[in-house]
Amino acid sequence: MPNQPRICVVGSCMIDLISRVPRLPALGETLVGHSFHLGYGGKGANQATAAAKLGARVSMVARVGHDVFGQGTLDNFRSLGIGTTHVLQDADRFSGVAPIFVDDRAENVIVIVPGANYGLTPEDVRAAREEIASADVLCCQLEIPVESTLEAFRVARSAGVTTILNPAPAAPLPDELLGLTDICVPNEVELEMLTGYSAGSLEEAAHAAETLLARGPGHVIVTLGSRGSLVVTSGSTQHVPAVPVDAVDPTGAGDEFIGALAVFLAEGASMADATMAAAAAAAISVTRIGTQVSFPDRQEVERLLAARSPV
Ligand code: RIB
Repeated sequence: MPNQPRICVVGSCMIDLISRVPRLPALGETLVGHSFHLGYGGKGANQATAAAKLGARVSMVARVGHDVFGQGTLDNFRSLGIGTTHVLQDADRFSGVAPIFVDDRAENVIVIVPGANYGLTPEDVRAAREEIASADVLCCQLEIPVESTLEAFRVARSAGVTTILNPAPAAPLPDELLGLTDICVPNEVELEMLTGYSAGSLEEAAHAAETLLARGPGHVIVTLGSRGSLVVTSGSTQHVPAVPVDAVDPTGAGDEFIGALAVFLAEGASMADATMAAAAAAAISVTRIGTQVSFPDRQEVERLLAARSPV
């Protein structure tokens, strides 16, 4: 591919332990589930996988355990063509895992146990300087130590690389990090936790996003599930509707959105067009069970976009 976009992800890897259940259990209750699915996850690895499946050249900077899950994660990256030079195996910590429940309404809850992800240091990030500086877009999340994310954004900014921050799971954000963020992409729950404002209605979400924008990012894109997304930039707010689908499992949909957003922006799409393409990619992912295995390839996304564009 002549202008293959280059994406670097500095972030997490998890093994997803997904149980499908009729409803979320009450405290102290034992509930019988429908089915169990084991697969590769972690917000960082998911965003890298989404971008690779859409045709980008992707490199990952991460830590996994020196265990069967860590080896599997490395093998999975290699099978997707994702660069693993800076995916280190940590001798002292187990690989990250994520127990997940998905109910019959296609709602999920996720617990992460970070393990080796919390061993990723700013020194590890500095060692990957070339990978970061040669990318078009850097994607980071908050499942690794925040000082390592901050270091990655410092390297990216000094090299003129576009930075996307997915502030998930929501945590206090240093002002320096927000100042180094070109595009901040929270979901509505994270936006509420980060700002203290409700994101219940579109108007409320827009207001909350504006308060986040005032702290430094160039753009805030709020993902709102079936209500679409809001693209908030200084002086303008645009609502991008969701693509209606029959959802069965939303796990990783936000990561698919961000991986796709990074690819389409790196290819030169406008923010609005890249957001629409990302929404289409995320919509496809929720129609299938599992995390990375639910992510679409390029042809599938383009088919959906073509079917939706006016003739
Ligand atoms: O965003 C979904 C991801 O969050 C899952 O894959 C899980 O591993 C957690 O990191």
